[in-house]
Amino acid sequence: MAETGMRSKRIAVIAGDGIGQEVIPAAIEVLEAVSGLFGVALEFTDFPWGSEFYLRNGSMMPPDGIERLSAFDAIFLGAIGHPGIPDHVTLDGLLLPIRRQYQQYVNLRPAALYAGVQSPLAAVQPGTVDMMIVRENTEGEYAQIGGFLHQGTPNELAVQSSVFTRMGTERAIRYAFELASSPTRRGKVSSITKSNAQGFGMVLWDRIFNEVRADYPAIETESILVDAATIHLVRRPQSFDVIVASNLFGDILSDLAAAVTGSIGLAASANLDPTRRHPSMFEPVHGSAPDIAGKGVANPLAAFLSAAMMIRHLGHDDAANAIEAAVRSVLATGRARTADLGGSSTMSQVTDAVLDTLAAPNPLT
Ligand code: NAD
Ligand code: IPM
Ligand code: MN
Repeated sequence: MAETGMRSKRIAVIAGDGIGQEVIPAAIEVLEAVSGLFGVALEFTDFPWGSEFYLRNGSMMPPDGIERLSAFDAIFLGAIGHPGIPDHVTLDGLLLPIRRQYQQYVNLRPAALYAGVQSPLAAVQPGTVDMMIVRENTEGEYAQIGGFLHQGTPNELAVQSSVFTRMGTERAIRYAFELASSPTRRGKVSSITKSNAQGFGMVLWDRIFNEVRADYPAIETESILVDAATIHLVRRPQSFDVIVASNLFGDILSDLAAAVTGSIGLAASANLDPTRRHPSMFEPVHGSAPDIAGKGVANPLAAFLSAAMMIRHLGHDDAANAIEAAVRSVLATGRARTADLGGSSTMSQVTDAVLDTLAAPNPLT
């Protein structure tokens, strides 16, 4: 621990597109504040990759881009996506290859309803919802195996294959069980399936879920079809602890969980290589939000909470706890709120409120 505490942590920063260019610099201000307060040495290196880079160079990053990231302890990413460039070009040119190549096989997405935040579900009270989505992040429906045939003719067709490997499925499910067993969680895993219609991949998923759960007799389990899971997430969000889902189901359910817990502007995520052979990547769940980009009104808290996940991963629990406590305090006191949370504050006002709280924590929250 002493050794990791002393060496400065190198962080590759890809702010990317749209509101990524706004929320990431704000989050770096917050990281620099805790770096000073807790003596955590952080070194940031900016990579100006993304859609503007694409418009100038014809690719989202240089050919050796991913390799250049290997020297870093973590990657901090904003968002990727540009209204003038097809999404499959931008996302499969940067974000998705990093997740795949660096074997960031767990996409961890917390969703909790904080004090001071109103759920759109009238009956759901703050403090009662606290779940963690474990999304398989390297294969499944995102394997990018397929192709087009007879393109541009009336016979044209597209094939998009899902890929479920025993290794890929098992490591994600096992991670979920380990997480549910940890003292920070409540000992329950909900597996999301669709084996009533996806008779191969999801059948293997279910089989592996059953095998792995036999190793964790103390963990309560349920297996839910993904369509019914959308009902349960709305009707009984309090009942979820750890959710494990395939790449696509985890993607969709994490936006739903974010909405149920107040806003996509609060949803943080970590793309983890739990083996630590490759750098992990931390990013807010939201995208580039072209509808609000450039206006200075994006909620930066998802980026702050992602930054907290990053420094916790790097071994600095105290600094991570301080960021989370400051975010909770700003939400609970309501001293600044962006429009997605029903307020009218700008992003800078929310950032200043978090920075002020870090400097002088409110003992009441
Ligand atoms: P989005 O998350 O960008 O936006 C969805 C809605 O949520 C919009 O109304 C937006 O204004 C709002 N929103 C998002 N983040 C917010 C924040 N921090 N504060 C306040 N409001 C916020 O999703 P989209 O509109 O479907 O996608 C836009 C682009 O981003 C697309 O190109 C998409 O492919 C891309 N995308 C990228 C990522 C990523 O880089 N990880 C994630 C999702 C979407
Ligand atoms: C996310 C995003 C990405 C995903 C897109 C932009 C490819 O929606 O991180 O949730 O689907 O994984
Ligand atoms: Mn998504």
